[in-house]
Amino acid sequence: MRKRSALGIMLDLIILAKDELRDLLVAILAGIVSFLSSVGIAVLGALLIVQLTGLIDLTFTKLVCLMAILALVRGLSRYLEQYLNHLVAFKVLRMLRDKVFAAVRKLAPAKIEGSNKGDLISMIMGDIELIEVFYAHTISPICIAIVCGSIYILVLARFSPAIAVLTLLSYLLMGILLPFIFSKWAKSTGRALRKEIGDLNNIFLDLLRGIAEIMQFAYRDKAIALVEKANQSLVAKQADLIKQLALLLALEDAIALLTTGLAVWIGLATKVPWHILLPMAFGILFSFPAIANVASLGNGLSQSLACGERILKLLEEEPLVEEIVNGVDLNLEENQAEAIIEVNNLSFAYDNQPVLENFNLTISPGEVLGIQGESGCGKSTLLKLIMRFWPADQGEILISGQAVENIKTQSLWKNIGYMTQSSEFFEGSIRDNLLIAKADATDEELKTALRKAAILDFTESLEHGLDTTLTELGDNFSAGERQRFSLARCFLEDSKILLLDEPTSNLDVLNESIILNALKENQADKTIVMVSHRESSLRICDRVIQI
Ligand SMILES: Nc1ncnc2c1ncn2[C@@H]1O[C@H](COP(=O)(O)OP(=O)(O)OP(=O)(O)O)[C@@H](O)[C@H]1O
Ligand SMILES: [Mg+2]
Repeated sequence: MRKRSALGIMLDLIILAKDELRDLLVAILAGIVSFLSSVGIAVLGALLIVQLTGLIDLTFTKLVCLMAILALVRGLSRYLEQYLNHLVAFKVLRMLRDKVFAAVRKLAPAKIEGSNKGDLISMIMGDIELIEVFYAHTISPICIAIVCGSIYILVLARFSPAIAVLTLLSYLLMGILLPFIFSKWAKSTGRALRKEIGDLNNIFLDLLRGIAEIMQFAYRDKAIALVEKANQSLVAKQADLIKQLALLLALEDAIALLTTGLAVWIGLATKVPWHILLPMAFGILFSFPAIANVASLGNGLSQSLACGERILKLLEEEPLVEEIVNGVDLNLEENQAEAIIEVNNLSFAYDNQPVLENFNLTISPGEVLGIQGESGCGKSTLLKLIMRFWPADQGEILISGQAVENIKTQSLWKNIGYMTQSSEFFEGSIRDNLLIAKADATDEELKTALRKAAILDFTESLEHGLDTTLTELGDNFSAGERQRFSLARCFLEDSKILLLDEPTSNLDVLNESIILNALKENQADKTIVMVSHRESSLRICDRVIQI
């Protein structure tokens, strides 16, 4: 993975926002107008005083009217700038969230299975949120500072080159040196802060997940102490960052005031008439906010760029298995091959931990094959390799005579019903969760599938029947009920090949036998591979192998 410079990250982030560049440009123009008008108001204020002496031929009314117009312009342009900047930022964030999700989907499951889900969540929620700083508060302040700064300097140079040079030096000090120093400084603090936030998140997630264990094993006091400790070190890091910010703000004000003072001194020494010097001094003092915006960037920007880099990295990550779009379509109805699934000399390792070595297996069409083996021997892994969730290291897997890596991924998945060891459910009703398997299924079909999975009576006994909500993660149903719903989903999909990973592990004897009967009854034109530790379940198999 290539390492990016800060500038490289910024460029890549801008390229990502290319569709919003027009709005961004308008925001920058509005910002320029807004800052110029605020300086204009200050200068007009000074001219009001000068006007009292009769040294200029502008009436009081004229000056006040001009000020009012500028105030209106300032308000409107400021509104437009802020509105558009944030609109652009949030539109880009929306687009980034979609892209990150698409990237995660592309990487799944091989590159997602082993990764830290908490990290992914914090990336999707936290990191993307922080990039807002870059889009809403970085690009336009820098552009505005450059344009406004140049205009101020050019105007000042007309009246006093010496004062113009002084002001330019102060701008450079505030707009380049300060952010440079402070971003270096804030970088380590910012990184430490993000780590503390991540740690606290992880502790909370961990404790929430294990709430039953905390209560049961008297882990309570330790858990509280853990949270307190993480909380304290987070506050300490936040205090560090705030101290830096306070110092930065103090320095910005000091530079603005000192520059104005020095400018007046130079003006007096070089005999600039006071009715010109006074408006100049006002203008200089009020010109600094545009530059200070850039000085304040250092703090948030380095964090924002660090997040940007993580997101860009994820977007560029290559999946372990690419989706096959131009491959063979499986047609299992007309399967000509002798074996419907054939595994030849298959070897596979997770990272460097070998799981399967020179494994061979032939399954005939219509066969019900049982797979047994001690925990961790690679049974689930074999099913994942058949689904091509991971690429095999060596050897081949053929479905109906076609190597899995030549079969269209969508066709492969459509033709094989795969029930994982721990099936997931999504927020929604029982019906929604079943329809995932067959979008156009009628209620009759749903009920048939539920009956085969021995869960129809239970479903009908619920107040809302099929419309009962399966809460997030399906926590409001027992493990056995979830297992039966997930089987119903498999039955509904009605694929020619069924891969079942421990389909009966959480069931009582009665429900197990209902399901086994359903499997047997519907098995006529199907091939079933069932991984199980239970002798009673394996009894329906035509053949049982050991791994
Ligand atoms: N994503 C992964 N990354 C690294 N190692 C993994 C991964 N998934 C499984 N393993 C390891 O590979 C080995 C085989 O796992 P697998 O899930 O295939 O076992 P299993 O035979 O299904 O066991 P069980 O009967 O307990 O379900 C185990 O040692 C496991 O720790
Ligand atoms: Mg397993």
